[in-house]
Amino acid sequence: MSGLSSFSSKLAFLISLVNCKHLEILRINHNPVDDILPSTIGNLLASLKSIYANFCGIRGSIPIGIGNLSNLAFLTLRQNGLTGFIPPIVKTMEKVQILKLSNNILQGSIPDDICQLKNIGDLRLNQNKLSGLIPKCLGNITTLRYLYLDSNKLTFVIPTSLGSLKDILEITFSSNSLNGNLPQELGNLNVATFMDLSMNQFTSKIPSTIIGLQNLVNLSLAHNRLQGPIPDSFGSMVSLEFLDLSYNDLSDVIPKSLEALSHLSYLNISFNRLRGKIPNGGPFVNFTFRSFMSNEALCGSPKFQVLPCHTSSLHHLREKRVALTLYILLSIAPILLSMTFVFLFVKRRRRNKTPSNIDLLPKMTPPRITYQQLFRATNGFSESNWLGVGSFGFVYKAILGDTIVLAIKVFNLQVEGAFKSFEIECEIMRHIRHRNLTEVISSCSNLDFKAVVLEYMPNGSLDKWLYSYNYFLDMLQRLDIMIDVACVLQYLHHDYSMPLVHCDLKPNNILLDNDMVAHVTDFGIAKLLDLGECVTRTKTIATFGYIASGDF
Ligand SMILES: *[C@@H]1O[C@H](CO)[C@@H](O)[C@H](O)[C@H]1NC(C)=O
Ligand SMILES: *[C@@H]1O[C@H](CO)[C@@H](O)[C@H](O)[C@H]1NC(C)=O
Ligand SMILES: *[C@@H]1O[C@H](CO)[C@@H](O)[C@H](O)[C@H]1NC(C)=O
Ligand SMILES: *[C@@H]1O[C@H](CO)[C@@H](O)[C@H](O)[C@H]1NC(C)=O
Repeated sequence: MSGLSSFSSKLAFLISLVNCKHLEILRINHNPVDDILPSTIGNLLASLKSIYANFCGIRGSIPIGIGNLSNLAFLTLRQNGLTGFIPPIVKTMEKVQILKLSNNILQGSIPDDICQLKNIGDLRLNQNKLSGLIPKCLGNITTLRYLYLDSNKLTFVIPTSLGSLKDILEITFSSNSLNGNLPQELGNLNVATFMDLSMNQFTSKIPSTIIGLQNLVNLSLAHNRLQGPIPDSFGSMVSLEFLDLSYNDLSDVIPKSLEALSHLSYLNISFNRLRGKIPNGGPFVNFTFRSFMSNEALCGSPKFQVLPCHTSSLHHLREKRVALTLYILLSIAPILLSMTFVFLFVKRRRRNKTPSNIDLLPKMTPPRITYQQLFRATNGFSESNWLGVGSFGFVYKAILGDTIVLAIKVFNLQVEGAFKSFEIECEIMRHIRHRNLTEVISSCSNLDFKAVVLEYMPNGSLDKWLYSYNYFLDMLQRLDIMIDVACVLQYLHHDYSMPLVHCDLKPNNILLDNDMVAHVTDFGIAKLLDLGECVTRTKTIATFGYIASGDF
C-alpha cells in the first residue's frame, strides 16, 4: 500500500495499520496532519520498509518505539515541527539506508549511536538546532554518500576521522559554529562532488591536500576566517564549476593555475586580502568585477574595476611614463638638490653632536630573553604572528609582557647558510648602530634554535607601500626614504672601520617605523670587505631579488 492521499484525520490512524500484515511503504507527504507521532508507532509491522512523512506539520518528539521497526530502510521526516532529541533508536534499525530529519526543531547533540547504522548512505540532519560536536565515529560509516549537517549549532572542529569517508559524494557543514583547522584529511574525499563549509569560523590555511578532490564540482568556503594563499593546487581540481572563497582572510596573489579550470562558471573571491594581477585567461574571460570586490590590491583588466598592473609592458605606455618622470624630475631638480643639501647639512651637524662611531659606544649587555619568553610572546611561533619571510627564516611579531612589541627573526637552520647568516647578523649588529638601521635588541641562541630580537616597525616594508594600492607615499616621503637609505649606505660603506656591503638591498628589506623613518634590515648575507677585495665578488652573493622598478 502506498501513496495514501489527503488524510484529514490525525496520526492515530497509523495504529490501525497494525493489521496490514504486508505493508511495506507508508507515504503521507504533504498531508497537514498537525499531530504528534503516536508513541506506539513501534507496534507497526516489522514488514514496514519505508516511511515518508515530509511536510506534514508533525509535532512533538520522535518516539523511542520507532526503533522497533527493525526492517525500516528509509525514514524521512523532513520539514515538520519535530522537537526534542534524536532518540537512541538506531541500534535496532541496522537496515536504515536513508535517514532524513532536516528542517525540524531537533536539539541536543548528534548521538554516537547513529554510527551504528552500518548501512546508511544518506544522513541529513540539517536545519535543526543540534549542538555539540560532530561525532568522531561518523568516519566509521564508510557507506555514507550524503552527509548534511548544515544550519545547526555544531561547534568545535571537523574530526579528522571524516577523511575515511571514501565514498562520500556530498557533504555540508555550513552555517554552524565550527572552528579550528580544515583537516588535511578532507583531501582524501576524492569522489566528492559537493562540499559546503561556508559560514563557520575556520581559521587555518586552505590545506594543499585539497588537490585530492579531483571530482569536486561545487566548493564553498565562504564566510570563514581562512588565511594564507589560495593554494596553487586549485588549478588541478579540473571538475570545479562553482568556487566561493569570499569573506575570508586570504592573502597573496590569485594563482594563475586557476586559468586551467575550464568548467568554472562561478568564482567569488571578494572580501579577502588578495593582491597582484587578476588572471585573464580561461574562465576569467567570463567573470565580472563582482567576483573580485574589496581586496587589498588586485590589479588587471579595467572590466574588473581595478587599477592596471605595474608590469603592463605596453611599450609606449612605459616610454610615456619615463618621459613624464624625466620631465617632472628636471623641473623640480633644483628644489630637490637644495633640499638635499639642507637636509644633509642638518644631519651632519646632528651627527657631529652625537658620537656615531662604534668604537666610542660603551659595551652594553643586551637584555636576556629566553626561548620560553619568545615562545609565549609569539603564541608558540604561530602563523598568525608572521610578519614576513627573511632570507634565512621567518619573522614573527612578538608581544612581550602584554605591552612591548618586538620583531623576532627565527633562523631556519635547515636552510643552508642560515647558521652563518645568524652569526653575521649578530656580529654586525653588535658593532654598528645607526638611526636608519633596525636595532637588534637581543638574540637567543641554543643548539637548535637561533633568533635575533629586533625593534618592531609598525609601518611594515617599503615594498608594501610601493606596490599596494591601499598605501601611498607622497613625493616628500619618498625623498625622505631615499635620503635615509643613502645615509645608512654612506655610513656602512665609508664611515665604518671596514667597508660593509649589504648585498641584498631591496624594498622588502627597508622597514618604516611609526614616523615613516626608513630602517635597513636583514644583514644575513652582508659582507665585510677587506681592503683590496674587489667589488665584483659581491655580485654573486645577492639572493634572488629585484631592483625596484622606475616607480621608486
Ligand atoms: C518494542 O519492542 C519491545 C519488544 O520487542 C517491547 O517490549 C516494547 O514495548 C516495544 N516498544 C514500543 C514503544 O513499542
Ligand atoms: C570505528 O570502528 C572501529 C572498529 O570497528 C572501532 O575500534 C573504533 O573505535 C571506531 N571509531 C570510533 C571513533 O567510534
Ligand atoms: C563564457 O560564456 C559563454 C556563454 O555563456 C560560453 O559559451 C563560454 O564557453 C564561456 N567561456 C569560458 C572560457 O568559460
Ligand atoms: C560575491 O560575494 C559578494 C558578497 O556576498 C557578493 O556581493 C557578490 O555579488 C558575489 N559575486 C558574485 C559574482 O556573485
